[in-house]
Amino acid sequence: MCGIVAYIGEKNCVPILLEGLQRLEYRGYDSAGLALVKDGELGVYKKAGKVAELVRSLDSMNGTLESTLGMGHTRWATHGEPNDVNAHPHWDNSKEIAVIHNGIIENYQAIKTKLLQDGHTFSTATDTEVLAHLIGAMYEKVGDLCSAVRLALSEVDGTYGIVVLSKRHPDRIIAARKGSPIILGVGEGENFVASDAAAIVDHTRQVVYLEDGEVAELTREGFRTMTIDDVRTEKVIEEITFDISQIERGGYEHFMLKEINEQPETIRDAMRGRLLVDEGDVMLGGLQHVMGRLLSARRIIISACGTSWHAGLVGEYIFEQIAKIPTEVEYASEFRYRNPLVNIDDVLFVISQSGETADTLAAMREAKRKGATALGIVNVVGSTIARESDGGVYVHAGPEIGVASTKAFTSQLTVISLIALMLARQRGMTKEDGVALARELESLPEKARQLLKNTEMIKAIAEEFKNAKNFLYLGRGANFPVALEGALKLKEISYIHAEGYPAAEMKHGPIALIDENMPVVFVVPKDAIYEKVISNLEEVRARRGRIIAVANEDDHEIEGLAEFVIRVPRTYGFFGPILNVIPLQLLSYYMAVARGTDVDQPRNLAKSVTVE
Ligand code: M6R
Repeated sequence: MCGIVAYIGEKNCVPILLEGLQRLEYRGYDSAGLALVKDGELGVYKKAGKVAELVRSLDSMNGTLESTLGMGHTRWATHGEPNDVNAHPHWDNSKEIAVIHNGIIENYQAIKTKLLQDGHTFSTATDTEVLAHLIGAMYEKVGDLCSAVRLALSEVDGTYGIVVLSKRHPDRIIAARKGSPIILGVGEGENFVASDAAAIVDHTRQVVYLEDGEVAELTREGFRTMTIDDVRTEKVIEEITFDISQIERGGYEHFMLKEINEQPETIRDAMRGRLLVDEGDVMLGGLQHVMGRLLSARRIIISACGTSWHAGLVGEYIFEQIAKIPTEVEYASEFRYRNPLVNIDDVLFVISQSGETADTLAAMREAKRKGATALGIVNVVGSTIARESDGGVYVHAGPEIGVASTKAFTSQLTVISLIALMLARQRGMTKEDGVALARELESLPEKARQLLKNTEMIKAIAEEFKNAKNFLYLGRGANFPVALEGALKLKEISYIHAEGYPAAEMKHGPIALIDENMPVVFVVPKDAIYEKVISNLEEVRARRGRIIAVANEDDHEIEGLAEFVIRVPRTYGFFGPILNVIPLQLLSYYMAVARGTDVDQPRNLAKSVTVE
């Protein structure tokens, strides 16, 4: 949520910041702004809308903006509607200090009341402006920018990743984090701050991850870090591996389409070097040191949000069917506040593409606090969940830029399958059975490639239903979460109301919605409950609902029952979701394109949800 980038060095930072903002735009895109320090002045330039609007407004100014010290922000609104005024950066009362902020200052009202009494005047509806004023007030007292930031932060509740500049200090940037990621980029005679690596990877691959409660002071020559209480901290400079092509569209019209099409490779990458096909086994380095605890686990709890939560629901089937370990799945946002009964012999898996989702992170911390082993299934390397968990597995899907999660989901399912197979073998599954499962997993990338070749039917369905008002998605067993995911994808990017339901549950309510205008998507592979799902499908047919079926290639019966059939290759039931979800991703994509919505940056959403 919100993107942050800042620069101090010898170059003109304006293009660096604008390019960085464009790379960060997937994190939030309702307004954007820059603050630049030059010749003893601090200029702030901001605009509602996407970064392109900011660029246009800067282009229309007379003269060229230049500076060697500046910061930029792209916003996902929390406090105050998205407009020019509420866009970041925000001034302090003296207009000498500017702040950009990612997160929420929870006690901003109380601080604002006090500052108003002291004569401050505010011009925005944001919590960030209050923080800027508080820093300014502290600066008046102590005369040192870094100390002022530390003192101000010691008075705030909530979460923040911030960058602070002052016109009185053209030689430094102050940054701090609590709950929202901040990394420092280390260069030669120049340094950077960013909310994620994508913003600075063109300039440096040497990074330092700030921890919660840390403050950094950067100059052109170097940086130092400390706690809010001014205790020096030692940091390790890490090298990030990042392929720039991964964050570019590479000829595709949208990142989402690129990422959907990357899945044969990303599913393979999730297994690479881990799946030992001939031994029917799996080797996962990040879990070796916790294997004892995993094997003696009384139960597995999976906690996550959104698409990652859907992966968790499929994971429940996979862990119970393959590894025979009782598994429960919880929304992270619910888990964290309901005082859950967690024991030291429970293992919690948190699943997160970004590794930064505030609710998921809090759920993990809560389970750890109660003594459980907390493990991460995470995509973004070096993210907070990856660093704070007791162990875990990266899904290695590469950067996912489209706000609608696609390749991360299938990679999460692949990794869950690997973990389940590894545990099953340790718990007595025969080598023969292990080899059969491993061979099937190995075949999935090619099967995904096959099904991605046939998009004509999906495009035709999108054209037919692009004006629909509602959609129902139905599936059973491991494909019930696929139905949920299909519905979520459609809602997110095409703004059509859609619901996912267990197919048999439909008759307990949603069946009232069925008429000749209602498209109903059935995920109906030829598995053990195929006939049961067909009965549910007949119930829809009897009420003249319009049926779209996602069915196996060798299912001939379905032609006579569904108006449209999308074919998917056959696999084992519990691996089916990895393939069955792909046509649903494509369907939502082509529906959104047909309706002309903003596929990669749908309204109101942001890629990484770092606020509660
Ligand atoms: O980064 P995470 O996997 O933790 O994100 C969780 C959800 O915010 C995310 O899956 C969201 O639902 C996506 N927009 C779904 O496409």
